[in-house]
Amino acid sequence: MSKLLVLNGPNLGRLGSREPEVYGSANFAELTDRVVTAAKAAGFEADVRQTNDEAELVSWLHEAVDQQNNVIINPAAFTHYSYALRDAAALVTKAGLKLIEVHISNPHTREEFRHNSVISAIATGVIAGFGVESYVLAIKAL
Ligand code: DQA
Repeated sequence: MSKLLVLNGPNLGRLGSREPEVYGSANFAELTDRVVTAAKAAGFEADVRQTNDEAELVSWLHEAVDQQNNVIINPAAFTHYSYALRDAAALVTKAGLKLIEVHISNPHTREEFRHNSVISAIATGVIAGFGVESYVLAIKAL
């Protein structure tokens, strides 16, 4: 079974209690279960991780390149301004691997600062606005 890295950025560990009207009621453990189950059905072994640390996310993207793993990433707030993350994500797609950017909410319906993603231009694809199902749709796309 091929391994898939499912990476999550800052504050996503607070799902369930964080703005449930925006992000829904599922907590991070429930998101992980849903993703692992959907990935298994599609023939992937999903390694689901979350960090509040930009440097750790960059290191995980380097790991994806070194181990030749496709990536699903919800960069959370880093989406909107982290050029370090963008450069690391570009290493993944330039290595011929897939990197799908996902969002639980649809950032385009929200505050203006969320309308821009510095990741999208180097991503294989972007899925946003379907709650936790955004991750499942990304798995289907892979
Ligand atoms: C998010 C959207 C971002 O704007 C926000 O900073 C997040 C979560 C989403 O999944 O909808 O933390 O990436």
